[in-house]
Amino acid sequence: MNVLSIVSEVYPLIKTGGLADVAGALPKALRPHGISVSTLVPGYGPVLEHLPRRTEVGRLGGLLGHDAVLTRAAMDGLDLLVLEIPELYERAGGPYIDGAGRDHPDNWLRFAVFSLAGARIALGELCAVQTDIVHVHDWQTALVPVYLRYAFRSSLPVVCTVHNLAFQGQFSPDIASRLELPDTALGIECLEYYGGVGFLKGGLVCSDIVTTVSPTYAREILSPELGMGLDGVLQTRRAALYGIVNGIDSEIWNPASDPIPARRYDARSLPRRQANRAAVLSHFGLPDAGGPLFSALTRLTWQKGADMIPDAAEEIVAQGGQLVVCGQGDAAIEDALRDCAWRHPERVSVHIGYSEELAHLIVSGCDVLMQPSRFEPCGLTQLYAMRYGAIPLVGRTGGLSETIIDANEAAMSRAVATGFQFHPIEPHSFREAVRRACEAFRDREAWAGLQRQAMKADFSWDRSASQYAQLFEALHAAWQTAQPRERRSC
Ligand code: ADP
Ligand code: GLC
Repeated sequence: MNVLSIVSEVYPLIKTGGLADVAGALPKALRPHGISVSTLVPGYGPVLEHLPRRTEVGRLGGLLGHDAVLTRAAMDGLDLLVLEIPELYERAGGPYIDGAGRDHPDNWLRFAVFSLAGARIALGELCAVQTDIVHVHDWQTALVPVYLRYAFRSSLPVVCTVHNLAFQGQFSPDIASRLELPDTALGIECLEYYGGVGFLKGGLVCSDIVTTVSPTYAREILSPELGMGLDGVLQTRRAALYGIVNGIDSEIWNPASDPIPARRYDARSLPRRQANRAAVLSHFGLPDAGGPLFSALTRLTWQKGADMIPDAAEEIVAQGGQLVVCGQGDAAIEDALRDCAWRHPERVSVHIGYSEELAHLIVSGCDVLMQPSRFEPCGLTQLYAMRYGAIPLVGRTGGLSETIIDANEAAMSRAVATGFQFHPIEPHSFREAVRRACEAFRDREAWAGLQRQAMKADFSWDRSASQYAQLFEALHAAWQTAQPRERRSC
């Protein structure tokens, strides 16, 4: 079975967050299930730089006023299709924002074109790509099923995965007429959303199956608290909504073979982590104060609760611990963290920025990794942390609540705990969790037990990939019965 995954970022080509990790890892995990995935990505500058040897697959004209060249390349076990339209994708800044941190003003066009091209490729317009199932991710590719259904009257099966409902791709009604979709697609039944155009809403309505990245988040988004205004729409898709927890690429994130940390180790050689701890402290310019080394490795946003970190840092310092932060995001949060580091020069250090290498070093050497998210569809950082024996300290929400077993007395005495959770997600309970972690750290033997337990937790893709495979297979079988051959013949 051939799956076309259409996605706006994929590791190792281009990454702003967990979406790229998932898009890069799932195809490899599906292969043992007899599923071959091709991944279509926009031809951003860094993507073209990573793939100097691409072969042309074909050309697509008439894409809302743009023409594309589709190229293909293989990398790290991925079959990559690159949609090259230089005027839309090769520009300064990131995939979604410019160098000054503002959304590219034509994002609606960039991703409508990407989705329209994806739909045409999925339908077999370029014979070199044959597709049985389409997999789209988040608002950037949510128009694919809309084009398939309304512009091409196709019933090719589509799975739409919601990685984060907070990002919905909502645009002004002025763009509606420029999407080259029939009026029926623009009404309340599909794209219309509070008077504007909602890309994600269209995708949720037009896909055969909607998945999200943990069972808990699948439940949470049906409620007004975490439905972000789309809970009503999601309620109508309840029967087609599935939660499948993300996995991690256990080759890339493996403390026993990771080339980045100072020393490699596994659950039987935990003392070797000391060298990595020293390397983290030295990288951040901190002396060793002997207490627990906390860390945060995250987008610095409200979602991630990063605004609560400076307050928690006071508690960490009061308890004799230290804190390193690697992240970037809201300017006010960045300032508050810099200020905190300035107040505690020997205890707190902050790296404003994004660094894949530093991410590996931090999880290999810190004692606690904090993720005080206010909502979290799945979260990958806590999974990486556990695999590296860094104990997660998280807000109890979404994927965080189901991937971590809180170190309460009962869980500790039964030796099943893997981290610390707090609730409500507010500064006072965050501080309380910091105190619990510091207390637990004082009993070094119990702490090592916690580390070993966390390292044992299995979040490889195996189980989740088989859940995706089952969904794909069921959809494919149903579609084949209903429409024996809809695709173009080549
Ligand atoms: P989200 O996608 O919401 O940001 P996830 O936990 O799913 O959250 O994924 C975040 C990914 O981004 C992880 O791979 C994490 O290691 C990485 N990451 C986040 N912040 C940074 C940073 N400052 N430097 C390097 N990697 C980061
Ligand atoms: C989103 C979510 C995060 C999830 C990631 C990958 O960015 O915020 O929780 O792990 O997507 O699915």
